[in-house]
Amino acid sequence: MGFKEAIIRSYDREADRARVEDLERRSEVGPAERLFLFTDTLGDPICRIRNSPMYNMLVAELNSELVGVIQGSIKAVTVHHHNPPKDVAKVGYILGLRVAPLHRRKGIGSSLVCAMEQWFLAHEVEYSYMATDKHNEASVKLFVHKLGYHKFRTPSILVNAVRYNRSSHISSNVEIAKLKLEESEAIYRKLMDKMEFFPQDIDQILRNKLSLGTWVAYQRGKSWSEGQVPDSWAMVSVWNSGELFKLRLGDAPLSCLMYTKSSRLIDRYLPCFGLVPSIPDFFEPFGFYFMYGIHHEGPLSGKLVRSLCNFVHNMAKETTGDCKVVVTEIGDHQHILRHHIPHWKLLSPEDLWCVKALKNNDAKNNLFESTKTPPTRALFVDPREV
Ligand SMILES: CC(C)(COP(=O)(O)OP(=O)(O)OC[C@H]1O[C@@H](n2cnc3c(N)ncnc32)[C@H](O)[C@@H]1OP(=O)(O)O)[C@@H](O)C(=O)NCCC(=O)NCCS
Repeated sequence: MGFKEAIIRSYDREADRARVEDLERRSEVGPAERLFLFTDTLGDPICRIRNSPMYNMLVAELNSELVGVIQGSIKAVTVHHHNPPKDVAKVGYILGLRVAPLHRRKGIGSSLVCAMEQWFLAHEVEYSYMATDKHNEASVKLFVHKLGYHKFRTPSILVNAVRYNRSSHISSNVEIAKLKLEESEAIYRKLMDKMEFFPQDIDQILRNKLSLGTWVAYQRGKSWSEGQVPDSWAMVSVWNSGELFKLRLGDAPLSCLMYTKSSRLIDRYLPCFGLVPSIPDFFEPFGFYFMYGIHHEGPLSGKLVRSLCNFVHNMAKETTGDCKVVVTEIGDHQHILRHHIPHWKLLSPEDLWCVKALKNNDAKNNLFESTKTPPTRALFVDPREV
């Protein structure tokens, strides 16, 4: 009997939901010697793309067994072409690629990506892109070596644990104010629309029910008014990813387990130590807040970024839910921001974004140039794609 090829078709909620969830549970993401993060989609496997303007999910079936899945979404973003003036392009984002462990290295992953690229092309998408942990060898080899993607940017994901027993300090010299939707949209369009991958539908993101709001910080005594901002200020928006899906740590190295257990013991037996942070139990499903659109201006703005991060931490701590971490992602050249954003090195992986031009030679040339040059602009990380 000859080798049978997997059939690739659209996701059918009725027939596939439970099988896709099962596949997700069986597919660890990340190399074996590091921490694994599993995603629990709370009964809605399509939840990670549902908030995008256009989305699709494909499955691969072999002998009636569901053996692979992929998701994709389409939107218009700022892309820096080397032939101005065109700087907005339609891009397709690939995520959630999983192949059942027993069916790997049979070409199913590649077929799913190619089928998604065809769907992108049918909707006039110019660039396809994806993000992966830069140590995920299978994923990097598949996209870069086999399917012609170019390594584009290496942003850092910064993860901070929520300490339920202690509020983070915010200086009494700092004023924090929530912006109205219209004002935050105006600031985004004025100050951030030149960022790489800035989404043209930022208004939809800000108006989404998962967007908890946009806050600014500035020195107390200074005034904030539309059109006139203080010398130093900072801004952040917050997205409640935990409403969509939950995360859970998988098999962790012994050292991490020990750390978790011993610090819980410390919490229990030595409460007077006060300084010891409470380490949440990441082995139970938990939600998280994602901070996006971090912007800062002026000589004192680093401290203001930290105040905003502490404010978001305290907000997460006050929620009755299971928000155990606050996450953000910053571009390659935003080193200064990294110093001001509290994060745990153990839980903060390095990301790799890869891009491929789908449409024409002109786009290919532009892309080739932009992957060769170091980034000069900040990267906008869309909370819908986390
Ligand atoms: C990554 C993944 C989707 C690959 O699926 P797959 O069906 O095995 O991929 P393919 O058979 O199409 O492999 C295509 C190429 O990718 C590379 N590749 C795939 N798996 C690899 C591995 N484990 N190690 C090294 N290279 C690998 C090879 O170049 C391979 O070509 P080859 O078999 O001719 O050498 C699968 O390993 C998986 O589900 N991993 C867990 C989830 C994950 O990490 N997803 C990616 C998140 S972006």
